[in-house]
Amino acid sequence: MKKLASRHKLDFVDTELHAIKQNNLYRKLNYGKVHGAHITINGKKLLNLCSNDYLGIPTTRIKINQLQSSSRLVSGNDESYRKLEKVLAKHKSQQNSLIYPTGYMANLGSISAIAKKGDLILSDELNHASIIESCKLTDAKISIYKHNDMKDLQTKLKQKGKNKFVITEGIFSMDGDMSNLKQITEIAEKTNAITIVDDAHGDFVVGKDGKGTPNHFKVGKKIDLYISSLSKGLGSFGGYVAAKNNVVDLCINKSKSFIYTSALPAFLVEHSLKRLESDREKQKKKLEENTKKLSNGLREIGFDINSKSQIIPIIIGNEKSAMDFGKFLLENGVFAQPIRYPTVPKNQARLRISVTAWLKDNDIEKALEIFKKAYVKFC
Ligand SMILES: Cc1ncc(COP(=O)(O)O)c(C=O)c1O
Repeated sequence: MKKLASRHKLDFVDTELHAIKQNNLYRKLNYGKVHGAHITINGKKLLNLCSNDYLGIPTTRIKINQLQSSSRLVSGNDESYRKLEKVLAKHKSQQNSLIYPTGYMANLGSISAIAKKGDLILSDELNHASIIESCKLTDAKISIYKHNDMKDLQTKLKQKGKNKFVITEGIFSMDGDMSNLKQITEIAEKTNAITIVDDAHGDFVVGKDGKGTPNHFKVGKKIDLYISSLSKGLGSFGGYVAAKNNVVDLCINKSKSFIYTSALPAFLVEHSLKRLESDREKQKKKLEENTKKLSNGLREIGFDINSKSQIIPIIIGNEKSAMDFGKFLLENGVFAQPIRYPTVPKNQARLRISVTAWLKDNDIEKALEIFKKAYVKFC
């Protein structure tokens, strides 16, 4: 009798990994040390064009004075939380705010607290994975509208739903364009829909005093639930929501990612407070200057750049070509990660460049030289 090849119960894991590799979608971790505009990987100093520390607020020493290990509803609710939540509520012109350990958890906790069975959620097709996962937790009907397409949104809002929600990013994380917030809030007003904005990439970066994308469009007061991250423009750590008192109260009482997890350590809360008080305007101006310089330079080379924000995607299409493009940049001293499915749709792989205020003029000139070579080789 033929002996069956011995199989291990975890062999399916190798099969799955093999399929991921075959499709050029395999991801592996790079270990590096970030220092200002640069990152060192395997002893090689590279220009870092994929940091979310957009404002590059100069680093201050963090005093690690407390490392609690408890939920905020138990004993993890340090006084510093009250201070930061007050400042963030004011920053968003909302009644109150609530801090979560990350932006991802702020989405999971707040969206699943506010929407439920019988409700209708309208979600932009390019919304971030954390929004998609959050919607799935709600038992509400989820209807995806075409990216920034207001006609499609209006049509889909005609569906039945006890409460209706429109959820969008402020600045889209992989495309760098802004949501049509002016029209979205008008449509929401007419249909009595609740507007939720995840502004992880617009917060602290755009609008007056960095108040974010809704403020940029002068509709800050029309947003019912504002969700953001402290780990990007502010360069700190954590996530938060800002809304009316009753919405924040509901989040405290229903958000599983708030109730059943340890609180962010108080020293990180204090770090955010310090960064909020820093000269963010100077950093914001430098970021705007750098963004203009780099995107205009890329356009002059011949790249098709539509984004006006600090997130500049160069769409390559094919996954393998995007990986080759990224490898070429890396070999030439520039670190810009290729982004592939499932982060973006299949065959829309891209280099996602993020500009920071860390970059000096000669950094941008050097980057453009390398991109020029890459254009000749790949485009
Ligand atoms: C749009 C959006 N929302 C939420 C998050 C999650 O934020 P955090 O990194 O604080 O978990 C991200 C992170 O990339 C994001 O791009």
